[in-house]
Amino acid sequence: MLFEPFSFSGLNLKNRLVRSATYEKRADEDGFVTESLIELYEDLTRGGIGLMITGNALVHPSGRTIPQMTCIHSDIYIQGLRKLTSAVHELDGVIAIQLTHGGRQSFPILLGGNDPLAPSAVYDSSTKIMPRAMTDTEIWEIIDAFADAARRARIAGFDAVQIHSAHGYLVSEFLSPYTNRRDDYWGGDEERRFHFPEEVYKAMRKEVGEDYPIMIKMNADDLIEGGLRGDEAVKIAVRLEELGLDAVEVSGGMYESNRKTAQPDILSPDEEAYFRNHGRAFKSKLHIPVMLVGGMRSRTVMEDVLQKGEADLISLARPLIREPDLPNKFREGKEGADCISCNGCMDFGKLDVVECIQLR
Ligand SMILES: Cc1cc2nc3c(=O)[nH]c(=O)nc-3n(C[C@H](O)[C@H](O)[C@H](O)COP(=O)(O)O)c2cc1C
Repeated sequence: MLFEPFSFSGLNLKNRLVRSATYEKRADEDGFVTESLIELYEDLTRGGIGLMITGNALVHPSGRTIPQMTCIHSDIYIQGLRKLTSAVHELDGVIAIQLTHGGRQSFPILLGGNDPLAPSAVYDSSTKIMPRAMTDTEIWEIIDAFADAARRARIAGFDAVQIHSAHGYLVSEFLSPYTNRRDDYWGGDEERRFHFPEEVYKAMRKEVGEDYPIMIKMNADDLIEGGLRGDEAVKIAVRLEELGLDAVEVSGGMYESNRKTAQPDILSPDEEAYFRNHGRAFKSKLHIPVMLVGGMRSRTVMEDVLQKGEADLISLARPLIREPDLPNKFREGKEGADCISCNGCMDFGKLDVVECIQLR
């Protein structure tokens, strides 16, 4: 099944393999697209991937999590982003952009010394940062920023957008009872915690129109005491589907849950696909395509996930850092990725660009 074409919402993918959003550290210091970033996407396209999702692109300067991340918070970025999409389209690739605000996982050093914004002031024990609770005005400003970013994405030629609502960043913080302790329109119970992603989705839809794919990457489980859990996560996805969402990518974890998002040392098939149970739960309630990410390394496991109906599409991050042409290699008969999940590629401070340190 892995190499069967797959179509949804006007996107025609040549296979079921997706490059999950992966920060590249290849934008320049101001967030503009560079030749190095374009070359990476050309390599991935030539490597045979069905759908590419960019690394997290910043919708508002107050949500910066990392240096040299691609930016989309102003019209000045459109021209560079268009160069990126043109390069991919020239090679017949399909490319979506992931839109993000880092919320409480942003760093004051990258915010001109300002406190990171969050639904509530909940101390982050992993970063040792106390964020500031957002005002109502600030919340609406960020919703507008997501909508503006989606408009720019469409103008720049991206085939789709993906809302980053996973891994403890701002959108997922509103959904999580652990990080959202508000008692107003934006929080207090399940219903009100849903309002932020709902308003983000609606504002984006208004900007891009009905015919443009909007996807979401979301946590099925925050993997922290008091966080979002599977049954509520599935309900959220169902509600977004009812609003018109086009696809969902299932992930989990946050900074404070300690490396649960990109688990290390995936060295045997039974350690792979560590969110597959969640994939099955999402698939059982949704009609839109479900992408599954997390620790898939061998073709047999990926086929099994598809055959068992645990996902429609297989998302990969670390294996493609090591082998951007892994889809072509799989098609030619290779069984497993070379990635050993050492997570050296996540040691962002030490790397000039995100790359596989085993190949140095
Ligand atoms: C270097 C690196 C950068 C990442 N950047 C992002 C990102 O920008 N957005 C995102 O949603 N996930 C990001 N992730 C998480 C991956 O998309 C993926 O969910 C996780 O690595 C598990 O998949 P894998 O086992 O195929 O690597 C990143 C992971 C790595 C290793």
